Amino acid sequence: MLLPVSTWPDIEAWLKKSRTIVIPIGSMEQHGPNGFIGTDAICPEVIAHQAERLAPDEMLVGPTFAVGCAQHHLGFPGTITLRPSTMIAAMADWTESLMRHGFERIYWLNGHGGNVATIDAAFAEIHAHRSFDPRGADNRPGLSLKRRNWWDFVSVMNLCNQLYPTGHGSHATASEVSVTYHAYPDRARPEVQMSPKIAPTGTISDAVSYRRDFPDGRIGSDPTQSNADDGARIVAVAAEAVLEEVRRFAA
Ligand code: NI
Repeated sequence: MLLPVSTWPDIEAWLKKSRTIVIPIGSMEQHGPNGFIGTDAICPEVIAHQAERLAPDEMLVGPTFAVGCAQHHLGFPGTITLRPSTMIAAMADWTESLMRHGFERIYWLNGHGGNVATIDAAFAEIHAHRSFDPRGADNRPGLSLKRRNWWDFVSVMNLCNQLYPTGHGSHATASEVSVTYHAYPDRARPEVQMSPKIAPTGTISDAVSYRRDFPDGRIGSDPTQSNADDGARIVAVAAEAVLEEVRRFAA
C-alpha cells in the first residue's frame, strides 16, 4: 500500500496486521548538468514503490520526505535545504504522528549521503525524548527506527560497479541519474555534454567552496553513461533487497 493514496480505514486495517511503515527520505539539490534536482528523493521513492508493487500486502510506503540537508549545494540554483535541527524536528514530528496511530517500526530508505549524520541524530533525539518521559515507560511498545541507504546493498553495489567500472562517482553518480531516467524517461538529457568527462574528486564543506571546487556540480562521476535501461535494472535489484530487508525488520 501507498499511504498517500490510501484511506484512513485502509491504514486502520493495516495496523491490525502490521506496525511497520517505510519512508523514502531524500534531498532537493543540484545533481550536475544532466541530473534532476530531485534525484535523491526520486531514487528511494521509485525503489520503495517498486518493492510495494512486488508485495503490496507486505509493504506500506509513506510519503517521501523530499527535502533534507543540502547546505553545501546552495551555490546552485534550485537547491532547497533544511538545517539539521529543522530536519531532526520534522523527522520527530513525522515519527510521533505515526506512533500515535500505533506504528512501532519505521524504515527510512535514504537517498542522500549528506542526510546520514542528521538522520542518525534524529533517531537519537527521538529515542532520548521517549526515554526521558517516565509515563508508561515500562508498558508501552518499543520503537524501532532504521536507516538504509539504497546504494549500500551488496547486490546494488555489485551491479553499479559492473555497469559503471569507471566514472560512477560520488555525487551525481551514473547510477542515481539512471534510476531517475527510468522513472522519468521523457525527461532524460542524453544530449548534455560534460567536460572533463569524469568530474574531479575532493572534500566538501560549504556552498561557496563546493561551487568553486566542483563547478558543474558533479564529484568524480561521468553521468553521460546514464540511461533508463540501466535504471530499470538497478531499481529491480534494489527493490528486491528492500523488500527482503523490510520483511526481516517487520518480523
Ligand atoms: Ni544524489
